[in-house]
Amino acid sequence: MTGPDNSSSASPMEFYKAIYQILRPIKPGTYGVLFSALSLVFVLTALLSLLTNSSIPFTGITVSFSGIGASSPPTMRNSTTVDEVKEEGGGSKCDIFDGSWVVDEDSAHPHRRPSYGPGKCPFVEDGFNCFGNGRLDLNYTLLWWQPSGCSLPRMDGLAMLEMLRGKKTAFVGDSLNRNMYQSLVCMLWHSVPNKTRVIDLTGKIPNSLGILTAFFADYNSTIQYFRAPFLVREWKTPITKRHRTSNSTLRIDKNNVFSRRYKNADIMIFNTAHWWTHEKTSLGKDFYQEGQTVHSYLSSLEAYKRGLKTWAKWVEKNVDRRRTKVFFRGYSVSHFSKGDWNTRGVCHGNKKPLTMNNSTQLGRLNHMKDVLEQVLKEMSNPVEYLDITRMSDYRRDAHPSIFRLPVEKRRNIEQQKQDCSHWCLPGVPDDWNEILYAMLVFNKTNNLRMVDACMIEEFNYPNDFSHKC
Ligand SMILES: *[C@@H]1O[C@H](CO)[C@@H](O)[C@H](O)[C@H]1NC(C)=O
Ligand SMILES: *[C@@H]1O[C@H](CO)[C@@H](O)[C@H](O)[C@H]1NC(C)=O
Ligand SMILES: *[C@@H]1O[C@H](CO)[C@@H](O)[C@H](O)[C@H]1NC(C)=O
Ligand SMILES: *[C@@H]1O[C@H](CO)[C@@H](O)[C@H](O)[C@H]1NC(C)=O
Ligand SMILES: *[C@@H]1O[C@H](CO)[C@@H](O)[C@H](O)[C@H]1NC(C)=O
Ligand SMILES: *[C@@H]1O[C@H](CO)[C@@H](O)[C@H](O)[C@H]1NC(C)=O
Ligand SMILES: *[C@@H]1O[C@H](CO)[C@@H](O)[C@H](O)[C@H]1NC(C)=O
Ligand SMILES: *[C@@H]1O[C@H](CO)[C@@H](O)[C@H](O)[C@H]1NC(C)=O
Repeated sequence: MTGPDNSSSASPMEFYKAIYQILRPIKPGTYGVLFSALSLVFVLTALLSLLTNSSIPFTGITVSFSGIGASSPPTMRNSTTVDEVKEEGGGSKCDIFDGSWVVDEDSAHPHRRPSYGPGKCPFVEDGFNCFGNGRLDLNYTLLWWQPSGCSLPRMDGLAMLEMLRGKKTAFVGDSLNRNMYQSLVCMLWHSVPNKTRVIDLTGKIPNSLGILTAFFADYNSTIQYFRAPFLVREWKTPITKRHRTSNSTLRIDKNNVFSRRYKNADIMIFNTAHWWTHEKTSLGKDFYQEGQTVHSYLSSLEAYKRGLKTWAKWVEKNVDRRRTKVFFRGYSVSHFSKGDWNTRGVCHGNKKPLTMNNSTQLGRLNHMKDVLEQVLKEMSNPVEYLDITRMSDYRRDAHPSIFRLPVEKRRNIEQQKQDCSHWCLPGVPDDWNEILYAMLVFNKTNNLRMVDACMIEEFNYPNDFSHKC
């Protein structure tokens, strides 16, 4: 076995974009630059690890939870399951990741989610700004996720900010988590009446290469993205002591360099997947390192497992789970067809999602999904699992495709590389964040227990939410 997903639908755009991102956050540009930047990347990574050692700790906001954590349990006036609140399913359990995409007919008054509108939110980077780049078919923005057995609570941005008051939220992972970070920031930004009170601190914090930061001033709430595409640490091993040259390796036994910075966050959302299917990573030759040992060969699936275990150990050792809510977001599916990311795969022109019956990508991800779920299950205190793989698999219509670039930079369709891996914003990550919201409001994925009576009120009277409780 060479790797989990050799025929991979995983994304190179992701790969190169993220590399570029480290060089210049926010505005991905031409990919020519990216390729030549490849060799720089590990140098930068090494640099990053130096920087972090002497880093100024992030504006340490550490407040105990009022609504979410178990250290100060929310008042449980009434414990009710979703099904009792909204009688759509049968039993007492609802898997919110099992459902379908439903059309929101009324675009002027969207049914769900704080809808920040195509091209409106300043936190969306160019590569995800499909509307700004000329994608005019907008049906993909009108779909929302409807679980089969219950309904998600309507997301109230101000209620969420209230939950996040005085707290830090950290997205940690690859550029798909950057996608999700921008989505959440935009949903909350949209809800805030005075937009000048939402401040982009990206690049303003010392040593913040690879970090994006949004600060909601009226809520003293910080949301950040930390670039850590493997979660574990990119590394360089000198070939000889004499020579300056060194081999790039991946320390699957060491957590990433940013962990000290987000250690005190109140909510953490991790992911890693796609980068384990690329080139060196998937070949597994002279790449994976543990201690002094560089494995001459280790399958990427085994390395993925060990890397995830390193991450899990870090969480178990460093995160106070009574105070901090930890999530892991599952594999986000790519939809390249007629080729792959490096062979001119395409996805443009898809205007409708796949249906249950012709969704075909999932089988290819099973190895990695199984490994991830196994590692999560074996944790002494399992984290919340955002199992978004299947729901995302239907959405071949929602990738940037050719609209990753503004029209003036586009070449003809045959020549242009397409992004069939990230998601247009607004779009699919908004639904992931609605689920995140639901899981913060409710206690557990598969047994949606209300944790806060306030939220029951909010659920029943969405337009009449007060923060009294
Ligand atoms: C914001 O949060 C930080 C960290 O919790 C706290 O030290 C600071 O006092 C807060 N600021 C305000 C204005 O509440
Ligand atoms: C979730 O519910 C369980 C009981 O079902 C409780 O022990 C736990 O503290 C709750 N967690 C949070 C974060 O509220
Ligand atoms: C919820 O509270 C109401 C009124 O306080 C009470 O009548 C009802 O039995 C409670 N429901 C549950 C499930 O505890
Ligand atoms: C968008 O959806 C509407 C209503 O479902 C449909 O009439 C229209 O043809 C769709 N537009 C595109 C470009 O697919
Ligand atoms: C919005 O916030 C800015 C900066 O604090 C302030 O100067 C301005 O007066 C506020 N606008 C409104 C309408 O409150
Ligand atoms: C460095 O990489 C080369 C080629 O992949 C390999 O032959 C060599 O053994 C590696 N050296 C070390 C110290 O890992
Ligand atoms: C999908 O497949 C199921 C079971 O095979 C079938 O009952 C259903 O009618 C199919 N739906 C469509 C839209 O073809
Ligand atoms: C998948 O289903 C959709 C809607 O039912 C249909 O338009 C499309 O042609 C199908 N695609 C494949 C590959 O079967």
